[in-house]
Amino acid sequence: MNLKGKTIILAVSGGIAAYKSAELTRLFKKEGADVWVVMTKSAKEFVSPLTFETLSGNRVYSEMFVDSSIFNLQSSISMPHIDLAKMCDLFIVAPATANIIGKFANGIADDLLSTFYLSVTSPVLIAPAMNNNMYANPVVQENIKKLKGFNINFVEPGFGELACGDKGEGRLAELDIIMSRAKELLSNPPMPPFATSPSPPLDGGEKGEVKGGRKMGLEGKTVLVTAGPTHEAIDPVRFISNLSSGKMGYAVASAARRRGANVILISGPTSLPVPSGVRFISIKSASDMRREILKEVKKADVIIMTAAVSDFTPENYSDKKIKKEANEGITVKLKKNPDILSEITSKLRNPQSAIRNPIIVGFALETDDIIKNAKEKLKEKELDFIVANSVNGFGGDQNKVTIIGRKGNLDDIPLMSKDAIAEIILDKVVSKD
Ligand code: PMT
Repeated sequence: MNLKGKTIILAVSGGIAAYKSAELTRLFKKEGADVWVVMTKSAKEFVSPLTFETLSGNRVYSEMFVDSSIFNLQSSISMPHIDLAKMCDLFIVAPATANIIGKFANGIADDLLSTFYLSVTSPVLIAPAMNNNMYANPVVQENIKKLKGFNINFVEPGFGELACGDKGEGRLAELDIIMSRAKELLSNPPMPPFATSPSPPLDGGEKGEVKGGRKMGLEGKTVLVTAGPTHEAIDPVRFISNLSSGKMGYAVASAARRRGANVILISGPTSLPVPSGVRFISIKSASDMRREILKEVKKADVIIMTAAVSDFTPENYSDKKIKKEANEGITVKLKKNPDILSEITSKLRNPQSAIRNPIIVGFALETDDIIKNAKEKLKEKELDFIVANSVNGFGGDQNKVTIIGRKGNLDDIPLMSKDAIAEIILDKVVSKD
């Protein structure tokens, strides 16, 4: 995507990763964007404003009020927190420190950046970077969760060696990931930041139509989403599971909610914050998931099964911890779990069924013959769409999928964020094509 005509306000807060924002500025400029940089006082301890001025070709702001007559530069900007906000197509904070995230989450406006945040109406993208223990601190996580609830977008930090010598999650995300997320937000803007809107405007938007930067088409519909792994218990402390993080399903649930749907999210154990405005049902095992789905399925207009449900479960459960002292080794015999998706489609697709006939999207996780196997599942399970992916789909923020429709139409989706994939899936659900 060419960024010509787009204005990006890039905020740099005070962390060692501030030097990476200089490269980010260069990359955005190279793609044609007009980049304006806002720096906190501590960011200037790490990188000189002159670096950003040279790379962006624009003046750097860090004070609330400027005397434009002195600088004789971009003289229409005298109150940067208001004037820059009006020009802004996308506001990116990279790196975002724990301090600035805390200020944003709590409405503290005591410098240019925190005040600017309150006045900006464009999409906001935050890329945190800090020490791993700081990032894991519940207060920081709570602030992030709160901001996500206000539809603020995050690029999660990477895992690895940190500047302080510790190892863990906290490195600024790779710049190409920040760039691709920024491009997605510019080409497909989500609803404005502060509209938490538990009750979306039911203003009759056409299918998939974009209104006020927000995709419509699911207003008042009930969307049932499954997410995450299941835990199949062996004894009170051990279980069989898989690598699903829940990210795909949570992305679908959030996107459906943004489009005005009533969302029921049935999720296996994950460490993700519950998306705001959804009805959340937490389960552990495949049999819990089956029970909850069967309770809810009658209400659903759309069912999207992203969960990695365990196909097998231990035949016997030991209600006491199996002691290693008493056993040289153990054999766990597994039995098959019911296939929930097949069970519900056979009920719902039955013409005698009194239940409405929802749109059903399944996922297929394959290691080989991905498309062939996915097509078979689509047919066998009588789905409207199947989203095929490989084991690389587990865990990360991005995925590469192929969406296959009932009529055999096949869309290869290049590597992109799970948030963007969720939007594409919902576009297909809305257009039924
Ligand atoms: O959670 P993430 O880390 O973001 O990763 C996303 C994902 C890789 C888990 C996701 O993209 C995905 O592929 N989910 C489906 C995984 C899976 O179980 O695939 P499957 O081919 O085994 O199952 C096919 C379909 O049947 C799935 O929609 C599944 O939810 C459903 N199923 C499977 C088994 C079972 N016993 N009951 C079911 O309903």
